[in-house]
Amino acid sequence: MSGPLLSVRNLSIGFPGGDGVAVRAVNGIGFDLRAGEALAIVGESGSGKTLLGKTLLGLLPDSARITGGSILYAGRELLSSTPAQWRAVRGTEIGMVFQEPMVSLNPAFRIGDQLAEALMLRRGLTRDEAW
Ligand SMILES: Nc1ncnc2c1ncn2[C@@H]1O[C@H](COP(=O)(O)OP(=O)(O)OP(=O)(O)O)[C@@H](O)[C@H]1O
Ligand SMILES: [Mg+2]
Repeated sequence: MSGPLLSVRNLSIGFPGGDGVAVRAVNGIGFDLRAGEALAIVGESGSGKTLLGKTLLGLLPDSARITGGSILYAGRELLSSTPAQWRAVRGTEIGMVFQEPMVSLNPAFRIGDQLAEALMLRRGLTRDEAW
C-alpha cells in the first residue's frame, strides 16, 4: 500500500494580537488521507475547520500565523511553497467548496460559467470543453 496523499501533522494556527494576547485557533490537528479516501472533520462553529481548509490552499489571511506543524502533500512540504507553487496546487490538486454562496459566488454570473472558468484557467480547456 502506498503512503498517504495528504499528511497533516501537529498543525497549529494562531492570530497574534496586540499586548501579546494571541488567539490560538487550531491546536495541533493531525490526520492522514490516502488517495480515494474521504474524511469528515466535524466541529462546532469557530473550531477552525475553515482555517484548516484555507491553510491547505495557502489562503490564510495575512493576520494569521502557522505556529507549528507540517503538511505533506504527495511527499512535499506544502508550507514551504512559493506563491507560484501554491498557484500550481490550488484549484488543480487541492480545491475547496466554500460554505457561503453569497460570498463565494458572483450572483451576476451563471453558476455554470463560474465552474467552467476554473476548468478553463486550470486545465486550459475551451469554454465548450469546460461545459
Ligand atoms: N481573521 C481572523 N482574525 C482573528 N481570529 C480569527 C480570524 N479568522 C478566524 N479567527 C478565529 O479562528 C477561529 C476558527 O475560525 P473558522 O472560521 O476556521 O471556524 P469554523 O470551524 O470554520 O466555523 P464555522 O463552522 O462557523 O464555519 C474562530 O473562532 C476565530 O477565533
Ligand atoms: Mg467555516
